[in-house]
Amino acid sequence: MLLPLKLINYIVPMLATAILLLLLFSHYLDLPSLSSPVPISTSVRPRGPKAAFTDLVAAFELWDAEVGCAWFREKHAGWATNASAIRPDDDNDECAAARMSHVSVLVKGWTWIPDSMDDLYPCRCGMTCLWTKSPVLADNPDAVLFESVTPPATRKKGDPLRVYMDLEASRKPSGFEDIFIGYHAKDDVQSTYAGTLFHKSRNYHVSSQKRNDVLVYWSSSRCLPQRNQLAKRFLSLIFHHSFGECLNNVGGPDAALSLYPECSMSENLVPHWWDHLHCAMSHYKFVLAIENTITESYITEKLYYALDSGAVPIYFGAPNVWDFVPPHSIIDGSKFSSLEELASYVKELADDPIAYAEYHSWRRCGVMGNYGKTRAASIDTLPCRLCELISRKGGRNARS
Ligand SMILES: *[C@@H]1O[C@H](CO)[C@@H](O)[C@H](O)[C@H]1NC(C)=O
Repeated sequence: MLLPLKLINYIVPMLATAILLLLLFSHYLDLPSLSSPVPISTSVRPRGPKAAFTDLVAAFELWDAEVGCAWFREKHAGWATNASAIRPDDDNDECAAARMSHVSVLVKGWTWIPDSMDDLYPCRCGMTCLWTKSPVLADNPDAVLFESVTPPATRKKGDPLRVYMDLEASRKPSGFEDIFIGYHAKDDVQSTYAGTLFHKSRNYHVSSQKRNDVLVYWSSSRCLPQRNQLAKRFLSLIFHHSFGECLNNVGGPDAALSLYPECSMSENLVPHWWDHLHCAMSHYKFVLAIENTITESYITEKLYYALDSGAVPIYFGAPNVWDFVPPHSIIDGSKFSSLEELASYVKELADDPIAYAEYHSWRRCGVMGNYGKTRAASIDTLPCRLCELISRKGGRNARS
């Protein structure tokens, strides 16, 4: 209390100002000067560091920070696909045309159709659909489905409808069916391979770490000469693991479980390669997928497995593959002028977390393109879609 209050009010601010000025002139404090350049925002997309990476989620975070979904959605807003590549499923007259409240399908002469498909399906318009392999449960079926055998040559009114299914590339009707199921939009019922029924019991573990020493996963046990040649030429250019019979380089078939024990289903079960396929693929940045036949709309589970497992497919197959998958989801091998060019693109991508993460944006930013329809037309929904058609035709009452 030595100085009067009024004096403090004057002296303290004066002293403070003097000290500040002194500091400024002696460059202790560097305040920004108006003439220094101010960063200008650019419209150019920022590029992150290129670096070897293994952590997929960390790569996603880099992409989010530097690119982001808004940019991705805008970039692909005009993404054009051929809507007729997939049969429409939203026929508004469906209920009006539906005549039957219940339809039963007896699956006969089957080879690979999984038993897990046997079910009573609730379908649209309140209809139910019994899909069964049991002639006991479907003793009086509305339709009989043939997959590996030719249907009877004739059918009278009152007999079950004859359904024939061929999802192979050749897609040949038997000539004796009332309904033909194939993979193509022009078939009576289309069934894509983009379903989970193909692999109901599987280890679905997805690795968060992607290998950086080995970039490409491949597995094939039907060593067709053309596919094998292409795979051999491409894989010679890049570090890869080949798990199947063809070009095996992991010490024999089924080495996946010794590399990735976490992919095992159960210690008591004899492992099948398909049980751990999904989990094994997830450790790789890329999965090579080559169709056995290159033809329009023929896209098999080889591609969808890779997408499902969180890998980026390197695809050789249907020329119209983009009508079935989301934008920027796969690497279309046929678009490169040489396999060398493709290999160097893949290697660069493997060391660029942001560019690599962008191949996963479709699943993180909302699915664009036809992919939703591709999945809706898969074998998972085949029972209801077939039963609805049988109903529209009138089932056993259909004219012969
Ligand atoms: C669209 O897809 C359908 C069915 O696959 C095909 O017949 C047609 O030629 C395609 N159109 C174009 C323009 O690619």
